[in-house]
Amino acid sequence: MTDHAIVTGAGTGLGRAMALKLSAAGCHVIGVGRRVEPLESLEDEAPGAVTTVSADVGLPEGRQAVADAVPADGQLRYLIHNAGVLEPVGPLSDVSLKDWHYSQAINVEAPLFLTQLLLPRLIGGRVLHISSGAAHRSIPGWGAYCTSKAALHMLYMVLRDELAEHGVAVGSLRPGVVDTPMQALIREQPEDRFPAVERFRELKSSGALHDPDAVAGFAVHLLTEVDAERFVEEEWEYDQHRR
Ligand SMILES: NC(=O)c1ccc[n+]([C@@H]2O[C@H](COP(=O)([O-])OP(=O)(O)OC[C@H]3O[C@@H](n4cnc5c(N)ncnc54)[C@H](OP(=O)(O)O)[C@@H]3O)[C@@H](O)[C@H]2O)c1
Repeated sequence: MTDHAIVTGAGTGLGRAMALKLSAAGCHVIGVGRRVEPLESLEDEAPGAVTTVSADVGLPEGRQAVADAVPADGQLRYLIHNAGVLEPVGPLSDVSLKDWHYSQAINVEAPLFLTQLLLPRLIGGRVLHISSGAAHRSIPGWGAYCTSKAALHMLYMVLRDELAEHGVAVGSLRPGVVDTPMQALIREQPEDRFPAVERFRELKSSGALHDPDAVAGFAVHLLTEVDAERFVEEEWEYDQHRR
């Protein structure tokens, strides 16, 4: 029986690396993103093993398109909520409702309602939230991102407790600072919108960023090798456990 895995935000960065590692581990991967080009190049890298869906997981119709792409046969073994956006960047004192909702729709609503939609297919499977250190501390200029990741962390804890009886294991991973397009975007921010930007530029120039492949390897280890009880019991931190 084929094991299917869904990775959101699979066209670039950490999601792309996780999609390729999961396909190498024998899963059929459904990679999701909005832009078609990175998804096509992902399919080219793992022909047949990765299929992709261009969809916005922040919208109900996008989530339905993801659900429709799961083949009727086989088991949906893994659902990885990795799609995320940093923006809007800047002080909360001037954030617009539209920009605020953009962030919350992708970073918070999408994981909740995609899990909900796929629940009947996920029995016996695992869900992994890609969290952030920003869920646990205030970072001026990242108010929308910090708030959304804090909400995602609480979703992980509540869904973990509620879905255990359905046989679905919900885990969470803090990847640390990873060398992806999101980090490139962070380094481009003006200091008046994001006061700590220089620290992120220095992390890059000193070679301190994690390789997405290494973090993806750890995520796949958690999904495929760690027993379900340990998988759910704490939010994993790549920085604490890297091998
Ligand atoms: N890099 C880090 O240092 C770091 C640290 C902590 C946590 N994280 C988290 O890691 C995850 C992956 O980020 P990354 O660093 O790999 O950056 P990234 O390359 O920007 O990846 C984000 C991916 O999400 C996709 N995406 C965004 N909105 C989407 C939507 N509405 N529907 C479908 N796909 C969407 C993007 O593709 P499209 O734009 O084509 O849709 C992109 O491929 C994020 O949740 C991020 O918050 C990253």
